[in-house]
Amino acid sequence: MALSFVPLPTSPRPIISIGAGGIVRDAHLPAYKLAGFPVAGLFDPDGAKAAKLAADFGVPRVFSSLAEAVAQAPAHAVFDVAVPASALPEVLPALPDGAPVLIQKPFGDNLAAARQLLALCERRRLLAAVNFQLRTAPGVAEARRLIAAGVIGELHDLEVRVTVYTPWQLWTFLEGIPRVEILYHSIHYVDLVRSFLGEPTGVHAKTTCHPLAPKLAATRTTMALDYGDALRATITTNHGHHFGGAHQESYVKWEGTRGALKLRLGLLLDYPRGEPDALALCAPGADGRPGDWQPVPLAGNWFPHAFIGPMAALMRFANGETADLPTRVADACRTMAVVEAAYESSARGATPIPA
Ligand SMILES: NC(=O)c1ccc[n+]([C@@H]2O[C@H](COP(=O)([O-])OP(=O)(O)OC[C@H]3O[C@@H](n4cnc5c(N)ncnc54)[C@H](O)[C@@H]3O)[C@@H](O)[C@H]2O)c1
Repeated sequence: MALSFVPLPTSPRPIISIGAGGIVRDAHLPAYKLAGFPVAGLFDPDGAKAAKLAADFGVPRVFSSLAEAVAQAPAHAVFDVAVPASALPEVLPALPDGAPVLIQKPFGDNLAAARQLLALCERRRLLAAVNFQLRTAPGVAEARRLIAAGVIGELHDLEVRVTVYTPWQLWTFLEGIPRVEILYHSIHYVDLVRSFLGEPTGVHAKTTCHPLAPKLAATRTTMALDYGDALRATITTNHGHHFGGAHQESYVKWEGTRGALKLRLGLLLDYPRGEPDALALCAPGADGRPGDWQPVPLAGNWFPHAFIGPMAALMRFANGETADLPTRVADACRTMAVVEAAYESSARGATPIPA
């Protein structure tokens, strides 16, 4: 499959994976295999899990400690950190000064933690980015290209809508923590919206628990990002729709003055196996009016193809092939700030109805 949706580094660097959990197995390693990025070694405190993953993907080394992974990493290695946010304050300080580091979202448990991690990355001169890979999903990259080419006119409406059954039990580290849905899931959409529309001036949000997920904080969210009176951006998620596939929804939709694009995110319809993504375009016909919806061919899906993008960008940045690191940690802090505002908005409550 061609990887035309993402610029690749001329010389890929060896990767050391810190963390050998579900996301490394389901997306990181399959993506790196497709892209031809070498994975030199793995570390996870669960040694048996790391050994099994290494055997399944032909990774040559399993390290017995983080210190050993750092000490024996090959020159020019990229550290690929995929651990719960709560483990970042222990992992990042152990990495070598000046190393390239890709960090799974979220960038800390909250905005205060993100700021501390940012200061640490700056102090240690880490070339650090956060793995907001939805930005580089093939369907998103194609939508971005069509919008930049003016195909749908001026973008004035961006909607993300998710009505699915998410198997939260896959992530036992989420049980009992105060923030779940926005911090661990809708953060992708917040980051995506920022990548298209820039910084919102504020956010209205309400995030709600689900009666069938008693061990989890809120898992359903309604959010409107404020871009003034002529541009709408909304994120609506319900991860507790356990009523079969018939009425599941999972899409990003962009509406412009001349046309619209809709991207089905197939992943969430059957996580983590997923169904294919699908992009459709409604462009103006010869008479200038919106025509029929047409499928737009895609070069891959969110899982695993999107995961090539942030790693490729970091390698190119570390190699000096580009001065741009789109999801650098300072930018990730802006996404964390919107997440923080969303939780504050939800906690503060809505405008009371006048008597
Ligand atoms: N689309 C996405 O980008 C996406 C999807 C799923 C998960 N994630 C993120 O990836 C991270 C991991 O999620 P997961 O699905 O793999 O969870 P998981 O529970 O399957 O795995 C987490 C792994 O981290 C390991 N770990 C914990 N502390 C560690 C430490 N100090 N050093 C090394 N390893 C450590 C655990 O032993 C475990 O194997 C989370 O931050 C999550 O938000 C991102």
